[in-house]
Amino acid sequence: MSISIQQISTPIYHYDTALLRRTLDTLLAASGKYPNYQVHYAIKANANPALLDIIQQAGLGIDCVSGGELRCALDAGFSASSIVFAGVGKSDWEIRLALENEILCLNVESLAELCVIQEIAVQMNRVARVCLRINPDVQAHTHTHIVTGRAEDKFGIDWQDVMPVIEQAQEMPNIDLKGLHFHIGSQITDMQDFVDLCHRINLIQEYLSTTDFCPEIINVGGGLGIDYYQPSTNPIPDFEAYFAVFAEHLQLREGQSLHFELGRAIVAQCGSLITRVLYVKPAADKQFVIVDAGMTELIRPALYGAYHHIDNLTSQQQEKCMYDVVGPICESSDVFAADRLLPLTQRGDILAIRSAGAYGESMASCYNCRRLPQAILDQHPLLKILN
Ligand code: LLP
Repeated sequence: MSISIQQISTPIYHYDTALLRRTLDTLLAASGKYPNYQVHYAIKANANPALLDIIQQAGLGIDCVSGGELRCALDAGFSASSIVFAGVGKSDWEIRLALENEILCLNVESLAELCVIQEIAVQMNRVARVCLRINPDVQAHTHTHIVTGRAEDKFGIDWQDVMPVIEQAQEMPNIDLKGLHFHIGSQITDMQDFVDLCHRINLIQEYLSTTDFCPEIINVGGGLGIDYYQPSTNPIPDFEAYFAVFAEHLQLREGQSLHFELGRAIVAQCGSLITRVLYVKPAADKQFVIVDAGMTELIRPALYGAYHHIDNLTSQQQEKCMYDVVGPICESSDVFAADRLLPLTQRGDILAIRSAGAYGESMASCYNCRRLPQAILDQHPLLKILN
């Protein structure tokens, strides 16, 4: 017996697993054209076990940035040899965990970190495979909070300072220097940013050709953006065009493999945050739609002023009205949408806040002593309109 959509307990994340599978198929068809390309899923985007299962079965590796994410990836069945581990502040226990499990490589963000890894590797009688994360000083055109590759950002080793670090790494007996890692930011839709990254990597490789170090791994990170404005008509990013940028502009040397760490582009569009309208409240010059989800379930609008498309799944009204859609959290930034044209909305309506599959559930919090919401997969026929 099918339940009415009104019986769905909200707020709740809904994941369209068919779309996730289609996205993975498209991704792998595009990357598969290049035998030396390997994709690691950036697990920070969403670590829901049901999604991880599908991603693991598709054969992707993992990019993680904490011991917790590393454990989560191992628990989900990803092989250690497919896992890379970045992060500007790795604790000793996290480095130990990585070495114990013999992951593919640690992406090392400073000389100080490299020295600690060498020390811990000696204690454990292991050899640590590492890539050096380089700050390429390339500007990505995205929200300033998610730009990571400018000189002033905290990530990586300044590209102009990398030579002495390489020399020291080569002298450390328990360090096996595998390659170079980059990540310039997230939600990047201007392919020119990736072209600029390629040019910078080419320049660095040119310098390196005068040394005896030839990286086996070049890792260009993640960052491919999605279409938040048209999630239904444009649900799958143009992976072909993305990989073609690297094929065209990056000059790889003999034997080098190219690694990617995509998060958002894989999972964002398969997820919606389903929420119920509690009240419609008129104010001086606007109307508030107050819903039962808040910045606790999807912080992106509050944190980055991010746009998320909103569908009213239950309203039959033709008439449209301008609303501010807000949550119940005691913060004025708890706003999902300002001045948004939606069908006439009333108490009890069910809304879908779209493109919430990436950095929704994984950034949820219990602020205001709220409970973390559950997730459902492809359950209710009415939710099919999201597919
Ligand atoms: N690799 C590294 C080293 C990263 O730091 C990140 C994201 C990725 C890969 C994956 O990036 P993606 O392909 O998902 O763009 N909370 C923000 C996004 C923060 C991204 C942090 N690092 C948001 O909701 O927009």
